[in-house]
Amino acid sequence: MYYPEELIEEVRSKNDIVDVVSGYVRLQKKGGNYWACCPFHGEKTPSFSVSGSRQMYHCFGCGVSGNVYTFVMQYENFSFPEAVKLLAERAGVTLPEVEYSEEQKRKAGKKARLLEINREAAKFFYVQLRSSRGTVGFQYLRKRELSDETMQRFGLGYAGKNGAELVQYLRSKGFEDDLIKEAGVASFSEKYGLVSQFWNRVMFPIQDINNRVIGFGGRVMGDGEPKYLNSPETQVFDKRRNLYGLNFARKARSGNIILCEGYMDVIAMHQAGFSQAVASLGTAFTPEQASLLKRYTENVLLAYDSDGAGVKAALRGIGILREAGLTGKVINMKPYKDPDEFMKALGREAFQERIDQAENSFFFEIRILAEQYDMSDPEAKTRFHREIAKRLCGFSEDAERDNYLQAIGEKYFIGIENLRKLVTGYAAQTGLAKPVERPRSGIRRKNDPEENARRNQRLLITWITDQPAVYQKVKKYIGVEDFTEELYRKVAERLFADLDAGSFNPAGIISTFEDEQEQHEAAQLFHASLPALATRQEREKAFHDILLSVKRNSYEYFSSRLGSDVNAMNKMVEGRRALEELAKLHISLD
Ligand code: UTP
Ligand code: MN
Repeated sequence: MYYPEELIEEVRSKNDIVDVVSGYVRLQKKGGNYWACCPFHGEKTPSFSVSGSRQMYHCFGCGVSGNVYTFVMQYENFSFPEAVKLLAERAGVTLPEVEYSEEQKRKAGKKARLLEINREAAKFFYVQLRSSRGTVGFQYLRKRELSDETMQRFGLGYAGKNGAELVQYLRSKGFEDDLIKEAGVASFSEKYGLVSQFWNRVMFPIQDINNRVIGFGGRVMGDGEPKYLNSPETQVFDKRRNLYGLNFARKARSGNIILCEGYMDVIAMHQAGFSQAVASLGTAFTPEQASLLKRYTENVLLAYDSDGAGVKAALRGIGILREAGLTGKVINMKPYKDPDEFMKALGREAFQERIDQAENSFFFEIRILAEQYDMSDPEAKTRFHREIAKRLCGFSEDAERDNYLQAIGEKYFIGIENLRKLVTGYAAQTGLAKPVERPRSGIRRKNDPEENARRNQRLLITWITDQPAVYQKVKKYIGVEDFTEELYRKVAERLFADLDAGSFNPAGIISTFEDEQEQHEAAQLFHASLPALATRQEREKAFHDILLSVKRNSYEYFSSRLGSDVNAMNKMVEGRRALEELAKLHISLD
């Protein structure tokens, strides 16, 4: 942490969240909370609520939540220390000059220096593009129909024919050779010494969500290999965890994000008004990028190339999105190769139509699958139907599976009853009596035991923050150790310590996490959607079920770790006892 925890907490408590948020959006009081249209996604009816008592906000539409710090970070696109600074100033709290340890200083200093080098290099390329020597680059980009405004927005540049010039420039700015090399913008060669690998290319600076340049992609003008040359991974450039264009797309508030394959696709889309477009960084789409996207949207539209490789990449992407719990759809680009070419040929309205017609990812998968079977051969056709049945089993929810079953049946002229039989047959064959009991869903993970366990842990934390009084009733049975998810355990640790001390401060817990992603996840814990149940009996039963499953999960967790964890035996024995007691116990909720 950059500042002492007490100070962070002081600044937070001196900035009332209702005050701060109402400086950005118009809040209306309704019941105990304040409401507004969510500033983080487009909507017409307010589902963004701010609670003065919890000092937290939550959007029931897009799921964002957090405290006053995360609000400022999200809204202003600030890092945590920047948010602390802003709010400290607002409340008139003076922040001390930060004292770093040597190690911290070295690390923070190093990263900051690497970022500076990247920024300087971007400036250098930017100026080159606009100088007489950059004319070739400028003309190339112009030929690709980019406007001045677009080139400026994306900070496009040009690397001249002499790779030593960038190095000289950086040296003149006081950067040492080793650091220049470590920033990935140059490397040593026997013959020329330290030179940049980027020469005679148009340059695409890659920015992180906070608009910091973390690396580059450089394109040859015309043919040549490689078409794009990218910076290597460095301490500040993690290709798995960043997306090109996300710094803009995160603010697009379009209700979806469009995932493309290339830098040029992103730029062409933004230029046409689709500022929700992003692309991975010269590598395949990763699960880390999916969870990054999940912070901003539920709906991801794939705008991949229409060729074979693009379809393959889309199929992979769909799987990753699904694992992350995101809804994926596929945009049909045909007859054009990619969004850039589509946009040039048909323009934005036609593209908007393609967005509206984007294909459900399951239908897409089945359609691609169908191409592999010769439907005039009864044998092949049957195998196709079996494969469909197998995939339908991936849906854990009866209604959902049946809806898909009917839709696919109609689409491919398969008798619904026959298909249903195949599904049941497949489920039975794989050792499960009914498809509904299939444990791990490839589709939404509703039946994923790990996700279930996490959900119950989230529900329990939310429930306790909703009704702090129940903590005293359950603390005998439920402890910090029962939260098997590490982040949840940390939150529970703070929450329970606070409650034991007679205080209650969920918003304060969030800012004890340094990492923005962790803050976000911690905030989610206070807003799991509790079942809306009418009667007290129903609520008590639901609560009891949640308690029991959290305990059962931790019991199973520690039992399975016997041998690897010396404490596991104790925890298991104790867990079993608590489980038995808990099963018999009645906990009243008033
Ligand atoms: P594409 O080959 O589809 O290029 O690569 P593109 O985006 O359509 O580019 P233009 O329109 O020809 O200029 C898609 C992405 O794959 C990565 C880049 O990130 C590129 O944007 N790539 C491609 C590389 O990293 N290196 C390469 O040599 C080629
Ligand atoms: Mn292209």
